Amino acid sequence: FFDVLCVTVIQGQDDWGVTYSSTEICASKGSTVEINCTYTYPSRIDGGDTEVKETFWFTKLNRNQPVDQSTNSDYQDRVENSCSEKSCSLRITDLKESDSAEYKFRFITNQPDGRYTGSPGVTLRVTALQVQVTRITVNQYYTKAELKCHSSCSLAGRLSYVWFKNGKKMLGLTTSTYKGRVYARDIISCALEGHEELPSPSVYAPKFLFVSVSPSAEIVEGRLVTVTCSSDANPVANYTWYKENGGPDLQPLNKNPQLVFRSIQSSDSGEYYCTAENKLGRTFKYVSINVTCE
Ligand SMILES: *[C@@H]1O[C@H](CO)[C@@H](O)[C@H](O)[C@H]1NC(C)=O
Ligand SMILES: *[C@@H]1O[C@H](CO)[C@@H](O)[C@H](O)[C@H]1NC(C)=O
Ligand SMILES: *[C@@H]1O[C@H](CO)[C@@H](O)[C@H](O)[C@H]1NC(C)=O
Repeated sequence: FFDVLCVTVIQGQDDWGVTYSSTEICASKGSTVEINCTYTYPSRIDGGDTEVKETFWFTKLNRNQPVDQSTNSDYQDRVENSCSEKSCSLRITDLKESDSAEYKFRFITNQPDGRYTGSPGVTLRVTALQVQVTRITVNQYYTKAELKCHSSCSLAGRLSYVWFKNGKKMLGLTTSTYKGRVYARDIISCALEGHEELPSPSVYAPKFLFVSVSPSAEIVEGRLVTVTCSSDANPVANYTWYKENGGPDLQPLNKNPQLVFRSIQSSDSGEYYCTAENKLGRTFKYVSINVTCE
């Protein structure tokens, strides 16, 4: 009876436990994170000294058994568990969105039933920033738009942002939204402050509009001819083809990047143009098609 009481007292001072330094972590894709914890255990149980045999971190179970994160092939050489005294940290480099999970720390001792998992664990969310575009107005020279630096991490709402326009930091702007003029050549991205080296993909109006005609040789009546319009744009551009008829009443021929003539006729000869448009702008390119009779 006395023994039991004694053990209870010792456990009260020196109990099984894991304490995480933070339980929710938000990190940018590509960055490095360190998840930390300290752990405690009764130093003696029933007169035997406790010795820690194994420490590891896990996110998944396999047949009810935790799977050591460092043996998970999705992580390859990206994880490292290091411990000193009674604190351990899991370092994950080159974070991927698929690393988002609840990480738990487990330690195993020499004592019978002397194993312990810190639960609930640490929720890691890996966020890839993305600029979302809302168009406000368009005129000939620029588009007025609202750009939002979106993150899949709710914690990111409390952070500071930086914006880049044409490679330069936009001064005095630290909010997650930017409202302003975007010109045809502007290239804009955002990042979290302190993580400027991990910006979102850039957004910009369509550029490098390119039209190709296939076959590229002389176009002969009756043949299959495909005209394709392409551009570089983010958000992706949509395409519309028109045939120039000299009047203002242009009707789109189609709303695809490709214009296909199954059997081209000489009456199809003429000037065509395609427009590429996204929420940040619009551009166009002409192509002339001359059909020759066989
Ligand atoms: C973990 O500890 C390291 C070293 O003290 C620190 O740089 C890092 O920010 C800590 N991680 C968290 C999520 O608190
Ligand atoms: C193309 O995209 C713009 C901007 O998103 C949109 O306003 C327009 O209606 C789209 N056009 C077509 C043909 O889908
Ligand atoms: C098509 O024919 C017209 C008139 O002969 C000519 O001016 C134009 O350069 C030709 N275009 C091409 C692409 O060959």
